Amino acid sequence: MTGLNIVVGVAGGIAAYKACHLVRFFTERGHSVTVVPTESALKFVGAATFEALSGNPVSTSVFDAVDQVQHVRVGQAADLVVIAPATADLMARMAAGRADDLLTATCLVATCPVVVAPAMHTEMWWNPATQDNVATLRRRAITVLEPAHGRLTGTDSGPGRLLEPGQIGEAALAVYAGAQIPRDLEGRKVLITAGGTQENLDPVRFIGNRSSGRQGFALAEIAAHRGAEVTVVAANTDDLPNPAGGTVVHRVLSARDMADKVGEVAGEQDVIIMAAAVADVRPAHQAAVKLKKGADSQALGQLELVENPDILAGLTEIRSTGIWEKNPVIVGFAAETGDDGATPLDHAVAKLQRKGCDLLMCNEVGAGKVFGQDTNSGWMVFPDGRVVDVLPGSKLEVAAQIMDEVVELMPPLSS
Ligand code: CTP
Repeated sequence: MTGLNIVVGVAGGIAAYKACHLVRFFTERGHSVTVVPTESALKFVGAATFEALSGNPVSTSVFDAVDQVQHVRVGQAADLVVIAPATADLMARMAAGRADDLLTATCLVATCPVVVAPAMHTEMWWNPATQDNVATLRRRAITVLEPAHGRLTGTDSGPGRLLEPGQIGEAALAVYAGAQIPRDLEGRKVLITAGGTQENLDPVRFIGNRSSGRQGFALAEIAAHRGAEVTVVAANTDDLPNPAGGTVVHRVLSARDMADKVGEVAGEQDVIIMAAAVADVRPAHQAAVKLKKGADSQALGQLELVENPDILAGLTEIRSTGIWEKNPVIVGFAAETGDDGATPLDHAVAKLQRKGCDLLMCNEVGAGKVFGQDTNSGWMVFPDGRVVDVLPGSKLEVAAQIMDEVVELMPPLSS
């Protein structure tokens, strides 16, 4: 994300000097910055400093550059408005809808995301007038960041300290990115499996796999941000925090646990994504006590295995009977290696047909690829023979590419 027009608003507080670092944060990332200080802000940092850092002229009054109708132009041209520091007085004026200087006029005109980073003494922050103003701004979809807790201007400390410029910059860009996400899964239910099942041999040992669950959780996060009601059935992903966006997470251990949980909720879904790595087999016998090397050498040395249910194939089979209230889009995942006879993509095409799903996301594994890594890439294959490249990116970026295709496959919502 580069090339945004960002307005950095600066109100009159001692923390105004930190706005200089915030301007730097944005320009270093390729964004164009216009600084709009209040008159009081210029008592702390001079206009020349802001002009030199941003490379753009600085003005405070609605009566500057009147011929260019500046009091509306700055807000109209903005992709993002970030105010740091925001004083109690500035937030009061914003909440009242005032436009008595260029910054408040810009806020009234702007239709882009507005992010406010407050800074003031603790008493002023906790004053009911300020808290009411913060609530009003948030109700209007302005993002008011919580101030940091720490040393204030004098010897006192408490909540009211301005966040560090990097924190404000990251938060503001995340708000901008969030606002660009389409809400094309509004009113839809999405079920996602994630992680890798474990099949117990005894209370200590199990058959498992290397899946981290992060791609499944990224899919859940994207689906929730796009408006879906998301349920995740997660196998052995305890080190991952729940995905953002109010997702319901059911934690399971084995393939059979996963099959049971998925079976309970599958019929009501619009989309089912089997991102979990499900163990194909499990030990035929699960010992209640730990097997011992000597006494149980037979059981340990010649493991008897039985096949697990194929959850994905089972889902597409049930769908074909038409007993569900909906006709969900069903997506499979495959981590493949090539071999002498076939490429990973050949294996993926055969697997899509075998499993009967509408889309199979395939990626190549082995030689250090994908498992446990932060990025992913691969191909999406479809029953009509189409193959779409999944461009390399973070697991969230890959999730967004998959979800774009899922949305295309979904029938329209019945009214
Ligand atoms: N899957 C499933 N139930 C299983 C095995 C796999 O639902 N018992 C799902 C996975 O969640 C994934 C897809 O099927 O979406 C492909 O998984 P994979 O392990 O690649 O498939 P297998 O049928 O086990 O094929 P292979 O022989 O290549 O392991």
